[in-house]
Amino acid sequence: MNTKIIKFDVENKSLIEEAGKVIRNGGIVAFPTETVYGLGANALDCCAVKKIFKAKGRPQDNPLIVHISNIEEINDLVKQIPHKAKILMEKFWPGPLTLILEKTDVIPDVTSAGLKTIGIRMPSNDTARALIKAARKPIAAPSANISGRPSPTNLETCVDDLNGKVDCIIGGEKSEVGLESTIVDCTTEPMCVLRPGGITLEMLKKVDDKIYIDPNIMKKPEKDFKPKAPGMKYRHYAPKAPVKIIDGDLQKTIEKINKIVQNYIDNNKKVGIIATDETKDKYSNAIVRSLGSRTNLEEIAQNLFEVLRSFDNEDVDIILSESFKEQGIGIAIMNRLKKSAGFDIMKL
Ligand code: TXA
Ligand code: MG
Repeated sequence: MNTKIIKFDVENKSLIEEAGKVIRNGGIVAFPTETVYGLGANALDCCAVKKIFKAKGRPQDNPLIVHISNIEEINDLVKQIPHKAKILMEKFWPGPLTLILEKTDVIPDVTSAGLKTIGIRMPSNDTARALIKAARKPIAAPSANISGRPSPTNLETCVDDLNGKVDCIIGGEKSEVGLESTIVDCTTEPMCVLRPGGITLEMLKKVDDKIYIDPNIMKKPEKDFKPKAPGMKYRHYAPKAPVKIIDGDLQKTIEKINKIVQNYIDNNKKVGIIATDETKDKYSNAIVRSLGSRTNLEEIAQNLFEVLRSFDNEDVDIILSESFKEQGIGIAIMNRLKKSAGFDIMKL
């Protein structure tokens, strides 16, 4: 397939009109959002949605999130909106928050993977919303990566994964949040966070102090574990080399990582290190990448997937990562990092 790659320019609206037409005609288009890049199709067209599963190699039991460009569009898609969900929409949309609600029959089973519920999100990214408007359809869009890989947060990584597999890729700015949206199940009382993200638990608790994070998603899944967000059971966010997290006091972490590096070097192996601005100069004999400053967890979140992916070009045998406090967006950072490591965590 010949993939058309376009750089979106606010001045040139015809490009977005063209991409909207591709969606309307049953094609698939990758596009930037403030969380990560998405791979979109008309959410109401089952043939188009099937193309997404095929291009990504995505398991069919993993439902897609439906993206809308203004609040009114939700009314045809869901049966009812509980009061607290309404408040969440008003407070955090447009933005990195997905709400799980009971779906209407308008949404085909392929989109919801046979579930009676659907995730809906209104992105804040202008290009994303312009595309939905141009398509004049709600857009079903998972992250624009090959299944299992870290989600793309810029045009280059999106092209790496999807060139030749999709009709069109729209390039925009680097994704601002860098991690996928927070998912809140609004069909239960109290509401439950199925995936942590840029809208933090602290922010959500201001709307409902009983809201909680599904405790299963932060630990290694049991063998027969069936999470409420089906996608959370798959190995995810994984670069080619295995990842190991070193979790402890920062000084001890640095010493431990340097020791492990030495062992690998003695065995003629190449090591990658995920460090921070505060620690990056304390390591040697390894490929060291900084996620940003520890004083700015938003920056760490924004760079995480790009840094994980960058090691694929370095042919490292292992990637050692520092860990972060599970607080604020740190919960989402550690959730993705643990999953990329397959929960291989060395506690100090
Ligand atoms: O930020 C995002 O949400 C990005 C951008 C493109 O908007 N999209 C995204 O989609 O991360 P995806 O497909 O990579 O992740 C969707 C997650 C999966 O874990 C899926 O199982 C869960 O949402 N999900 C979707 N619909 C669901 C439902 N009805 N009930 C429970 N979980 C659901
Ligand atoms: Mg994904």
